[in-house]
Amino acid sequence: MKNPSVFTEKAELRQALDQVRSAGGEVVVVPTMGALHEGHLQLVDAAKKAGDYVLVTVFVNPKQFGPGEDFDLYPRDLEGDRAKLAQRGVDGIFAPSVALMYPPEFRTTVAVSDLTAGMCGAHRPGHFDGVTTVVAKLFGLTSPCTAIFGRKDYQQLAVIRRMTEDLCLPVKIVGVPTVRGAGGLALSSRNAYLGKDERQRALSLSRGLRAAAAAFSRGERRAGALRGLVVEHVESAADRIDYITAADSSTLAPLSDEDVAADRLLIAIAAHIGKTRLIDNAVLGEDLLEETP
Ligand code: PAJ
Repeated sequence: MKNPSVFTEKAELRQALDQVRSAGGEVVVVPTMGALHEGHLQLVDAAKKAGDYVLVTVFVNPKQFGPGEDFDLYPRDLEGDRAKLAQRGVDGIFAPSVALMYPPEFRTTVAVSDLTAGMCGAHRPGHFDGVTTVVAKLFGLTSPCTAIFGRKDYQQLAVIRRMTEDLCLPVKIVGVPTVRGAGGLALSSRNAYLGKDERQRALSLSRGLRAAAAAFSRGERRAGALRGLVVEHVESAADRIDYITAADSSTLAPLSDEDVAADRLLIAIAAHIGKTRLIDNAVLGEDLLEETP
C-alpha cells in the first residue's frame, strides 16, 4: 500500500505530471466527485492497466448541479477516499477547492450541442455544460493523458468523447462497464441516500434492463416492445420517471416505438425513488447484465 500524493494547487500538479511524462511515463486520469465506491475503484483498476501514473481527481463540481439539486447534500469524505485509493495503489489525488477551479474572474463555458439535448440534458438544464467545462479544465491541467470514465453515465461519456475530439484535446478516452452491487443495482454515490425499502424499489431499474436484454437475446428488436418491458418494471416501483428512452447507442438519437433496432440499442433510464434520482442504462446486444446475488 502506498500513500498517494494529494495536490491542491495547479502548479504542483502540473510539475508532478510533467516529471512523469519526461521520464517516459504515461499519465492516466480518473475524474470523480469523490464519495468513492467500488464502481469508481474499478475505474482505478482500469487506469492502472492503461498507464504508469494514476491520478484521481476529487471535486464536487458546483457548475453541474442545478438550483434545488443535491450540491450541498452530496457526500464528501476526502479522508475515506484517500484511504480507499491508497489501497488500490493510486499515485496522486487532485482535490482542488471551488475557489481554485472557479475564481471570481472565471468566464468560460464549454458546451456540446445535440448529444446533450435529450435524456439527462433535457431534465437537468445546464448540467452537461457544467460537466464539459470542468472536464475540459481538468484535461487542461493533466493532458496529454488517458482518461477513464464509466458507462454508467452513458450520455456523459458520449458527450466527453465528442468534446475531446471536437477540441483536439490530447486525451485518449476509455469507457468502463457499469459496476453493479447486490441484485444488480448500479453502484452510485447517491445510493447512500436510499432507505431499505427504497433500495429494494431501486432494483426495478436493473430488473427492467435485464428483462429487455433477455427479450433482445430472444430476437425482439422492436424499440417500443423493449422499452415497454423496462417501463413495466420501473413504473410500479419509482415515485417519478424522468425518462426511459430507447436510442441509437452512438448518436443517442431517440428511437420511436415503431423503430426496429439493428444489432444494438441503448436503453437509458432516470427515475426518482423517494428523494433520490437514479440513472441506469444498457446497450442491448453489447452489455452483459448478469444478476449479482
Ligand atoms: P462521479 O459521479 O463521481 O463519477 C465518476 C466516474 O465514475 C464517472 O466516469 C462515472 O461514470 C463512474 N462511475 C460511477 N458509478 C459507476 C459504476 N457503478 N460503474 C462504473 N463507473 C461508474 O461523473 C462524475 O462524477 C462527474 O460528472 C465528473 C465526470 C467527475 C465531472 O465532474
